[in-house]
Amino acid sequence: MDSNIAWHQTAITKEQRRKKNHHHSFVLWFTGLSGSGKSTLANAVAAQLFEKGINHYILDGDNIRHGLNRDLSFSDEDRKENIRRIAEVSKLFVDSGTVVLTAFISPFIQDRRKAKELLDDNEFLEVFVDCPLKECEERDPKGLYQKARNGEIPQFTGIDSPYEVPLNPDLVIKTDQLSLRDSAGAVIALLKQKKFL
Ligand code: PPS
Repeated sequence: MDSNIAWHQTAITKEQRRKKNHHHSFVLWFTGLSGSGKSTLANAVAAQLFEKGINHYILDGDNIRHGLNRDLSFSDEDRKENIRRIAEVSKLFVDSGTVVLTAFISPFIQDRRKAKELLDDNEFLEVFVDCPLKECEERDPKGLYQKARNGEIPQFTGIDSPYEVPLNPDLVIKTDQLSLRDSAGAVIALLKQKKFL
């Protein structure tokens, strides 16, 4: 970074924005294979936050790759850059007093760890959306696994690109065993337990 760039402290602080919103701001980081249910679960949790009047926003892999990160591929390096940018954007949202739900495969432990380290203590929860590859492949909601197996999509996560399972997530949701309603309920219960809600 250029040493001639200085940080400007805003007149209104994060704490003041949180106080006005009457809630904490933090990141709910959903990670898991393509088709594991990250976006579906993030949306179900968001619906409950909406009902509770909590300011929130979903950052979703497919959507972000249409705009902000449209220049990035699925190489290891670009996935790393994808997650770095999302972590920075999430930090801005948290500073604004907003609850952020991120739904990215985010396959690498180191990148998720860096995202967590960018946030303050008590501002980041990792939710492992755990679904066996076999089940994700059977669901194949976008037909991408089929294309990957046919050699039409290189570096597809779980096929010829790795997914590193979280070692110490705040929550594991087994989407092949739990209903969507119970899965969202478990996330909300965690937020209450942490006194984030
Ligand atoms: S990553 O690994 O975190 O950078 O990926 P992400 O930004 O979440 O984007 C994942 C979505 O992109 C589609 N897609 C692929 N996924 C994995 N590997 C390859 N090669 C690939 N190509 C396209 C796919 O629809 C992912 O969406 P989800 O919602 O995860 O199924």
